[in-house]
Amino acid sequence: MRRSVLAVLALLVVAVTSQTIDDLASVEDYYESLDLVTAFSDDSNSSTISIGTPGVGYHTAYTTIGGVQTDKINVDKLEMTRTEYQLGILSEELMRSITSLQKRVEVIMQENKTYTVTSTTTKPPNNNTHYYYSLAPYSWPNCTGIKAVVNKWTQCPWKSVDGKINPAGKSLSAGHSLTYLIRDGVDLATSYYLFGNSAHEQKYTDNIRTFFINRATYMAPNMNYSQVVPDGPEDDWIGSRMGVLDTHGLITLLSSAELMAQSGGTYWTDSDTKGLQKWVREYRTWMETSRLGIAESKGRNNHGTFYYAQIAAFSHYLGEANATRAAVNKYLDTIYDGQIMASGAQPLELSRAFSLHYSYYNLEALGALAKYAQSVGLNVFNSTNVHKASYRTAVNFLIKNTLSTKNSENPANFLPMLETSANVYGDDKTYNYTDAIKYIRNETGGGDLGAVWLLWTRQ
Ligand SMILES: *[C@@H]1O[C@H](CO)[C@@H](O)[C@H](O)[C@H]1NC(C)=O
Ligand SMILES: *[C@@H]1O[C@H](CO)[C@@H](O)[C@H](O)[C@H]1NC(C)=O
Ligand SMILES: *[C@@H]1O[C@H](CO)[C@@H](O)[C@H](O)[C@H]1NC(C)=O
Ligand SMILES: *[C@@H]1O[C@H](CO)[C@@H](O)[C@H](O)[C@H]1NC(C)=O
Ligand SMILES: *[C@@H]1O[C@H](CO)[C@@H](O)[C@H](O)[C@H]1NC(C)=O
Ligand SMILES: *[C@@H]1O[C@H](CO)[C@@H](O)[C@H](O)[C@H]1NC(C)=O
Ligand SMILES: *[C@@H]1O[C@H](CO)[C@@H](O)[C@H](O)[C@H]1NC(C)=O
Ligand SMILES: *[C@@H]1O[C@H](CO)[C@@H](O)[C@H](O)[C@H]1NC(C)=O
Ligand SMILES: *[C@@H]1O[C@H](CO)[C@@H](O)[C@H](O)[C@H]1NC(C)=O
Repeated sequence: MRRSVLAVLALLVVAVTSQTIDDLASVEDYYESLDLVTAFSDDSNSSTISIGTPGVGYHTAYTTIGGVQTDKINVDKLEMTRTEYQLGILSEELMRSITSLQKRVEVIMQENKTYTVTSTTTKPPNNNTHYYYSLAPYSWPNCTGIKAVVNKWTQCPWKSVDGKINPAGKSLSAGHSLTYLIRDGVDLATSYYLFGNSAHEQKYTDNIRTFFINRATYMAPNMNYSQVVPDGPEDDWIGSRMGVLDTHGLITLLSSAELMAQSGGTYWTDSDTKGLQKWVREYRTWMETSRLGIAESKGRNNHGTFYYAQIAAFSHYLGEANATRAAVNKYLDTIYDGQIMASGAQPLELSRAFSLHYSYYNLEALGALAKYAQSVGLNVFNSTNVHKASYRTAVNFLIKNTLSTKNSENPANFLPMLETSANVYGDDKTYNYTDAIKYIRNETGGGDLGAVWLLWTRQ
């Protein structure tokens, strides 16, 4: 094992053992500490809604206004926003998103950061810093019955504890680089489209070139070391199929790249589009042919949905309508039926430790898949599965729980699905999405007002 890795890991093991988990007993304590409630007794398939413990892996990802939703940018609606802004008639709510976007972009420009997986201080197991490297977020060493433990990482078998994030993974920088690249990219492209400041176009372009195109700093187009379970000799560590999920934010980033190419700038050129397309094509091939990629395509829960949403979005970016259509149909034919029950319950997500979080998360993927499907004439939003259920049924099911005071998931995380529903289905007396949005915003001090996606999911 390399010295640098040993030093980093030794520190982490100390942190892990002293602060969160000493031995297996505490893993079991953790399970027992989960506050489980049965919220849906009217539905035999609904499993239980489990309530996460804030501070113990509590998911707050989208409550941050700068957070990125998996989405396809609706250019027509963004154009409406631009026109109304120029005429000075933009609503107060959307003005908040504009102001918030401008502030974030100002910080991006001041900080002038570039992101690359190659800047990591911890090398992946093959020592090639072009490879993306992350740890399986919920995996922990189980040292019960193992004698003379010197190194938990290599001596103890690893066990997944759903919902309990191992903080060790946070020291690896590739995931952060990718997340920030996407977050900044979507802001910069939207800002450039709205206001035409070429400095924003340049920053966007430089970031994309650094991450995907320039040979010194590009990321290798595969996820062989994503969500690694660090079990056994280090040279044998390999990613897990779930690591394919780590790239789901590329769906939105590619949508922003398409927007950039339509924005009429001169810094972003055809060769940037071609360079990014080359990367995307290679990565899609890896997804479709590698052992890990193929295994992830069979994931029945949000993993499978995000897999096909990625293939659909990547194919769209490559201009291959047939491949987009094929990905959507594969999802509908193989996974859709098992995901949403007649009641709208999503049992594969409800069985997770953070059941509400994952119920929203799967709909985030399904919503993006459905928007890419629209681009090739397929109407997934209105397609029902074998249980006569759809995205809409699932959203309606979640409304009653989201608005209940019994859960600790931030209801603001549900707003993007309600906004999409208001757009796609419209309100009726039973399910008034506009009303639910108002209610959640009021309950959460504004909810997602300020988020960039409102500029293109607006009514
Ligand atoms: C931002 O950083 C790049 C290098 O990454 C540099 O070329 C450029 O001059 C910097 N811009 C500003 C305004 O400092
Ligand atoms: C990576 O580098 C370390 C230290 O130089 C070495 O022990 C290890 O065998 C290398 N791994 C591979 C896969 O080359
Ligand atoms: C941990 O390892 C022990 C000993 O092999 C085993 O009995 C136990 O089931 C494991 N616990 C978990 C949660 O995997
Ligand atoms: C990914 O890992 C597999 C299995 O170890 C290997 O066969 C394949 O060549 C690797 N791919 C890349 C691009 O490194
Ligand atoms: C796309 O699919 C249509 C209908 O199945 C077929 O006629 C066409 O040749 C395909 N195009 C490409 C580029 O594969
Ligand atoms: C529950 O699941 C079974 C199959 O496992 C299905 O036949 C049944 O229709 C489902 N019930 C509801 C209420 O969705
Ligand atoms: C989808 O369903 C909604 C609500 O039933 C309806 O208003 C809308 O027209 C449908 N869209 C399409 C394209 O069928
Ligand atoms: C939905 O609620 C809003 C109030 O927030 C109300 O103005 C509207 O009429 C309702 N729509 C329907 C179809 O009931
Ligand atoms: C808005 O939230 C406040 C504080 O939670 C509450 O007192 C008030 O009744 C809410 N207003 C509406 C219209 O729901």
